[in-house]
Amino acid sequence: MNSNAPTITCSFCKRKVVANTQYDVPIYDPRSGFSLCANCIKDIYHLIEDHQQDENIRQNEETEQAINDELTRIKPHLVKEYLDQYIINQDHAKKVLSVAIYNHYKRMKYGFKHPEGDEEIEKSNVIILGPSGCGKTALLSHLARMLDIPFAVTDASSLTEAGFVGADVEVAVRNLYYAADKDISRCEHGIIYLDEFDKIARKSGENNTITADPGHEGVQQALLKMLEGNVVEFTARGQRKHPEAPTIKVDTKNILFIVGGAFVGIEKIIAKRIHKNDANIGFGAQVEGKGEKPDFDELIHQTTPEDLMKFGIIPEIIGRLPIICTLENLDEDALLRILTEPKNAPVKQYQKLMEMDNVQLEFDKDALQAVAQKAIERKTGARSLKGIIEDTMLNIMFDIPQSDANRKVTITADCINDGADPLIEEI
Ligand SMILES: Nc1ncnc2c1ncn2[C@@H]1O[C@H](COP(=O)(O)OP(=O)(O)OP(=O)(O)O)[C@@H](O)[C@H]1O
Ligand SMILES: [Mg+2]
Repeated sequence: MNSNAPTITCSFCKRKVVANTQYDVPIYDPRSGFSLCANCIKDIYHLIEDHQQDENIRQNEETEQAINDELTRIKPHLVKEYLDQYIINQDHAKKVLSVAIYNHYKRMKYGFKHPEGDEEIEKSNVIILGPSGCGKTALLSHLARMLDIPFAVTDASSLTEAGFVGADVEVAVRNLYYAADKDISRCEHGIIYLDEFDKIARKSGENNTITADPGHEGVQQALLKMLEGNVVEFTARGQRKHPEAPTIKVDTKNILFIVGGAFVGIEKIIAKRIHKNDANIGFGAQVEGKGEKPDFDELIHQTTPEDLMKFGIIPEIIGRLPIICTLENLDEDALLRILTEPKNAPVKQYQKLMEMDNVQLEFDKDALQAVAQKAIERKTGARSLKGIIEDTMLNIMFDIPQSDANRKVTITADCINDGADPLIEEI
């Protein structure tokens, strides 16, 4: 022992410690005399460690509770019930999506309970197909509102291969990161919806005659890496990408991808395949009952990965989208219901607007039918419904506010078909 070693009083435990080495009293300030002995530091360290462990346990319990609560709230039948309030028909798609969401939460719970488990539950990304204006984007945006996990929609048609003018595919993950309020771990369990996915089909697919392909296959290759699970790096919004810019890293392994698009013309590819198979069955004989041309809905529900490949999606991507979800055309009956039934139905919206001018707005039954028929002629599904009503409503919305009187306005079929004036009565 060094007899010249100084004796220091620990400011914490007040013991006198002979400081043979600097480790006996690791913290010592000769000017103020403040010191902490090695024992006290060890105790404090253990205390903090215990506290940290308690805190981790508490946080884990909280996360598990939150997942359990969500699992109860988003049971498939409940998600479908919610979607039913806004989206008419498309029951099959609603079922597929609500099960996909439920399974995503179950995977999350499993992964949370078995962090090191090698028997992980694989995720099942979804591809949605259906004609224009049939509710694909609407379905997903209502789902997003219902869920408590981050959800971001990115238009795939705006994405380009790195180096081309346009947004890199990382934008999809960046959008999710902002939807998750910049919380990386929440973001890593979120859902990305890539809309207009058919727009990045290879141009040399069977549906296209143009041979030039401005980087679409490159976009698909880049997306493939994301779908497979990859650490994606991107810069914060508004920051230019340059070598020194700080980047944010997100692992996409547990992100659920849903992609959707109209895939215009895919029914022809399906019809061709079915026709070929039919011909094979009877050595070219006409199969009974197949003389009639199958309609669009019948065909679209039979989409196979092979058809998507022919359309111009690379096989590796199709392999990563195991669930094919198809939506059908909306017939007149469905369009009539869309006009009046959903919580945000166009008729309800105009009625609310007019109510603010003391007007009771009514649509004759045949007026609604006329709107639906016009929409069918335009071949854009439910998309044109609001526009058709808007054309008729413009004059009335301009004229009505000129008086405060209580009135009733009735829209007739003539208003829709021939631009006749609506009936206005004072009440
Ligand atoms: N089944 C439906 N039920 C209720 N509203 C619908 C339905 N389908 C479409 N709509 C309404 O029609 C409009 C257009 O629908 P949406 O944007 O979902 O079409 P889409 O299928 O994504 O078409 P596209 O392939 O052209 O993008 C939306 O305002 C939506 O509210
Ligand atoms: Mg859409």
